[in-house]
Amino acid sequence: MNRPLRERLLAVMDQKDHWAYPALTQPGLSRAQLLVHFQHEYLVYVRDFPALLARVLGQTPPIQSVRAALAENLYEEQTGGVSRSGPHPELFLGMMEGLGFSRADFDDDRCSLHPSARSYREILREASAAPPWQAACALLTIFVEGSRNERAELEGTFVRPRGDDAVRSHPLVVHYGCPPEAMKLTRAHGAVEGAHRKDAWRIVLDHVPEADAALTSTVIATCERALAAWHRYRDGVAERMGLHGK
Ligand SMILES: [Fe+2]
Repeated sequence: MNRPLRERLLAVMDQKDHWAYPALTQPGLSRAQLLVHFQHEYLVYVRDFPALLARVLGQTPPIQSVRAALAENLYEEQTGGVSRSGPHPELFLGMMEGLGFSRADFDDDRCSLHPSARSYREILREASAAPPWQAACALLTIFVEGSRNERAELEGTFVRPRGDDAVRSHPLVVHYGCPPEAMKLTRAHGAVEGAHRKDAWRIVLDHVPEADAALTSTVIATCERALAAWHRYRDGVAERMGLHGK
């Protein structure tokens, strides 16, 4: 299916990449730099992701298959009930403890977020509750949950590593000494994210009619706006980490 909506959203996802990303998959960052990165990730979208997803669910019309898919995603994110793990924000903090950070390092008042991080977070908070629901759903389940691997994952040429493989090859384990037992979040994502990616695309493509040009452009504009804010956010975090691009 090569609909314009699918292509435009994939083009957005292709650009969900940042020059500072390779630094995070290689050795060489200090503890302080890692902490800045992870504090931002946690407070910008990890901690509140389930609540943001609930906002999307709360504005959907009574289409049972859509509500069920979002409810399952939300249930997993807030409880880990599907993967039999735990709430994903808690699993994230467990990973941080594995790196030697404390939970208190992630308290709101211990972290001074870059202004660009605050504005990206504000966009997520507002847009998740704003109609049309298809735009909110695309923003949270495709843009925020998805990655630059989206196109390859849909085409089946990228297969997300799972289980022990995913944990053993993770840069935090390989380069930063995080014990494999602390990587429950990676295990949980390996177990469930593939299904969530498929649900996300199915919901958005099935419920944005090709003939509805206005709705199609609103969905695309919402994700493009988030992409621009996300790039400013990643630039801001890199600046706080003292990393310099070209
Ligand atoms: Fe998650």
